[in-house]
Amino acid sequence: MNLFRSVIAAIGRKHKPHRSQAGGKPNSHNPKNKWRCSVGRFFNMGNEESSPIDESVPPQTLPARTLEALSDHIKNGKVSRIVVMTGAGISTSAGIPDFRSPDTGLYANLARLNLPYAEAVFDISYFRKNPMPFYTLAHELYPGKYRPTITHSFIRLLHDKGLLLKLFTQNIDCLEREAGVPDDKIVEAHGSFARQSCIECSEPYPEADIKRHIADKEIPRCHQCKGLVKPEIVFFGEQLPAEFFRHRSLPAEADLCIVMGTSLTVQPFASLPDVTPDSTPRVLINKERVGSLGSGTDDVLILGDCDDGVRKLANACGWLDELEGLWAKTAPKDTGELGKPAAEVAKRDKDEQLEDEIDKLTKDVDETLRLSKWHEEKVRDEKLPGSATKSDQPKSSDTTSSGDRPHEDSDGNLGHVFVQGQKPDRRVMKGEET
Ligand code: OAD
Repeated sequence: MNLFRSVIAAIGRKHKPHRSQAGGKPNSHNPKNKWRCSVGRFFNMGNEESSPIDESVPPQTLPARTLEALSDHIKNGKVSRIVVMTGAGISTSAGIPDFRSPDTGLYANLARLNLPYAEAVFDISYFRKNPMPFYTLAHELYPGKYRPTITHSFIRLLHDKGLLLKLFTQNIDCLEREAGVPDDKIVEAHGSFARQSCIECSEPYPEADIKRHIADKEIPRCHQCKGLVKPEIVFFGEQLPAEFFRHRSLPAEADLCIVMGTSLTVQPFASLPDVTPDSTPRVLINKERVGSLGSGTDDVLILGDCDDGVRKLANACGWLDELEGLWAKTAPKDTGELGKPAAEVAKRDKDEQLEDEIDKLTKDVDETLRLSKWHEEKVRDEKLPGSATKSDQPKSSDTTSSGDRPHEDSDGNLGHVFVQGQKPDRRVMKGEET
């Protein structure tokens, strides 16, 4: 494991002082082209708090840390290699919930389902024991039901203008592709629904078959070995795709970094914005400030709704009509609900379905836990050889984020970074490439 990787691997276990100007002194920033990810700064990333830059510190590249200055910079041809980093917030206006927004986020809504902890629905060891919650959600989230948002079309516009170096997305909804961003420009850091395979023998599984199973809310089994089949979404406890590791130093070559709709909570993705050089402008388009964004000399914050933010930026660049035109092309032609925005239709459908889904999921989880408990008692009573131990069973009573860690490698597992003061005892990890 090289130094770069070793440093990343340590993230999530160590909490170092916040990223700020050294000693709080203005003008103490590093010279141009120095990576933000030098060892001392690499620990101050993700959603661990960082101090907003002191207003007295001048920008290095932009004339000012404003939307207007940024758009002038772009219009003046100073930008040709943009790296975009996105999360679930860019798809919420399509009707897909994000993960961590209070009340509306996916995890807040799964908490009542007696999962041992909300993220268990995307945890590989939990999936092995109980794949039904994931498949119930997959039915809900499966691509094809949702229209790309104007934020997705904005990324496509950057590509059409020859400005997009790479899009790193944590999303599994494939909406960037649907908006027309080409495959070779996208790094799906947490995988996607685009492919599926057996978790035991890795045999690829036919798309038509998984579509049918997901539509029928059934659990697909490998045609070769009968193992569980899973879309190639990266679950906690699994490695990120090799493609992520191949490209993760690309932000160092960017001349603009745009971060949108992510809480920057999950590593190693959360550290990507910090791979840009100190002097490279970074833009955050998000409901709130996240990670180290806002602490750099050339960070511009466009806080609020993503779609509003990209419209503002496009307008300032003189691209708004073009953007609206591109987005209009993504409108579904045969929803049967002509005249209604797809987002509205999807949201209404989703609301109607959600109750059914939750009822069914609750029943499935209850049933599994009942069987689990029955099995546990049977093992205890009959001392069956080779049976699961109590510690292997889901804990039905633990619905909070506290409790034992489901898995934690001693070597190189990566995981969440938590907002200070909100860090649960449990730390769920995503694996790192070995
Ligand atoms: P989160 O739910 O953690 O964060 C979404 C961010 O987008 C938050 O900062 C929201 O405030 C913001 N947001 C939501 N709607 C928005 C809107 N309309 N406009 C602007 N901002 C908005 O989602 P991610 O950061 O994507 O992993 O989560 C990262 C990973 O955690 C996911 O990939 C997923 C999850 O566990 C998986 O393995 C599936």
